[in-house]
Amino acid sequence: MLVSREELKTLMKNKFMAAGLSAEHAEKTAEVLTWSSERGLHSHGEVRVEYYTERISKGGITTNPQWTWEQTGPVTGILDGDNGCGYPFAIKGLEYAMDMARENGIGVVGVRRVSHTGALGYYTEMAAQNDLCLLTMCQSDPMVIPYGGAEPFYGTNPIAFGAPTADERFVNFDMATTVQAWGKILDAKSAGRSIPNDWAVDVDGNATTDPFSVNALRAIAGPKGYGLMMVVDILSGILLGVPSGKNVSSMYHDLSEGRDLGHLHIVIDPARFVGLDAFKQQMSQTLDELGAVKPGPGFDKVYYPGERALLRKAACDEAGGIEIVDSIYEYLTSDKLYIHSWDHKNRFAE
Ligand code: NAI
Repeated sequence: MLVSREELKTLMKNKFMAAGLSAEHAEKTAEVLTWSSERGLHSHGEVRVEYYTERISKGGITTNPQWTWEQTGPVTGILDGDNGCGYPFAIKGLEYAMDMARENGIGVVGVRRVSHTGALGYYTEMAAQNDLCLLTMCQSDPMVIPYGGAEPFYGTNPIAFGAPTADERFVNFDMATTVQAWGKILDAKSAGRSIPNDWAVDVDGNATTDPFSVNALRAIAGPKGYGLMMVVDILSGILLGVPSGKNVSSMYHDLSEGRDLGHLHIVIDPARFVGLDAFKQQMSQTLDELGAVKPGPGFDKVYYPGERALLRKAACDEAGGIEIVDSIYEYLTSDKLYIHSWDHKNRFAE
C-alpha cells in the first residue's frame, strides 16, 4: 500500500521510541530507513523495524549509550557508540569527519561498537550535499566464503563513495561486496526459482543453483571481491579494535548482546585539491559524457551510480508516497513491538 513519507517515518520513529530509543535516535534511524525505502532499498527500510524493536527491547541496542569521542590527531578520531543504535552514530561520526575535512582537507573517523548502520548511500549523499567526497565502509555478519574456501568468513561488507557535481546530481556508488544480497536468495526461495551458479555455495563449497541448499554467499569478481571485502574488514574492523572476520557478531544470534560493529568514514574536501568549482564542473561534465554514451544491446542508457535510486525517489515523490507491503503497515500501526522472534536464528534469519 502507498504510505506518505511523513507517515512512514513517524510510524517507524514511534515504534523505536516505544521500544526505548531516545527521540533523537529514533528520529535519525527512521529518517535513514525512510531515505532507503524511497530509493527502492526496501531491504534497508521499513522491513527492518521489527528486528530493531526486538533487539532494542532485549538490550542488544543500548538505549542510553555512554558514547565517547576522541580526536586522535588533526584529521583523525574515534567515536565509540557503546553499542547504541548504529544510524545516529554513523551520522555523528560523519559530522566530525566533515568538520575535520573542512578544516584540514581530510577527516577520517572510525565509528566503533555500534549496531547496524544500514544503507551506506545515506552517508555518501549527506557528504556530497555538503560539497565533500566520502568513502565509507562497514562490517557485516559473516556469510561469505573467502575465495577458495567452503565456509563463511566475511560479511557482505559494503563500501560506498559519494561526490558532488556542479548541478543537482551527485555520484552515489554504494554496494555490498557480494554478487547478490541474501534477500535475492530469499526471493528465489519464495518464488521457487533457481539462482545463477555464481551467487552462492552449498555446505561443501560447491557452486549451487538451488536456493534451498545455500550455505554461504560469494564475493564479487572472485579473488578481487574477496580482497576488497577484506580491506573493508581491516579498515572498519581491525583498525578500530573491534572483532573482525569470522568473529564479527551475527545479526540474529543473540539479540540481548551488543554487536560491536565498526564503520569507517574518510571525507576528502575537493577544495584542497583541484578546487571545488573545477571538481564539480568536471564531475558534471563526466556524468553528461556518460549519459551520452551509446547504450549497449539490452540497455536503454548508461546510468551513473546512484541515478536509478534517484529516479525511484522521484517516482515516490510523484506518487505521493512509498509502496510498502500491507503486513508491514499493519505491524507499524499496531500496538505490538515485535511479532516474530528473530532471536537465535542463523545468519540467514532461519
Ligand atoms: P546494488 O547492487 O543495487 O547497487 C550497487 C551499485 O551499483 C549502486 O551504486 C547502484 O547505483 C549501481 N547500479 C546498479 N545498477 C546500475 C545500473 N544499471 N547502472 C549504473 N549503476 C548501477 O546494491 P547492493 O550491493 O545490493 O547493496 C544494497 C544496499 O545494501 C546498499 O545501500 C548497501 O550499503 C547496503 N548494505 C548494507 C550492509 C550493512 O551491513 N550495513 C551490508 C550489505 C549491504
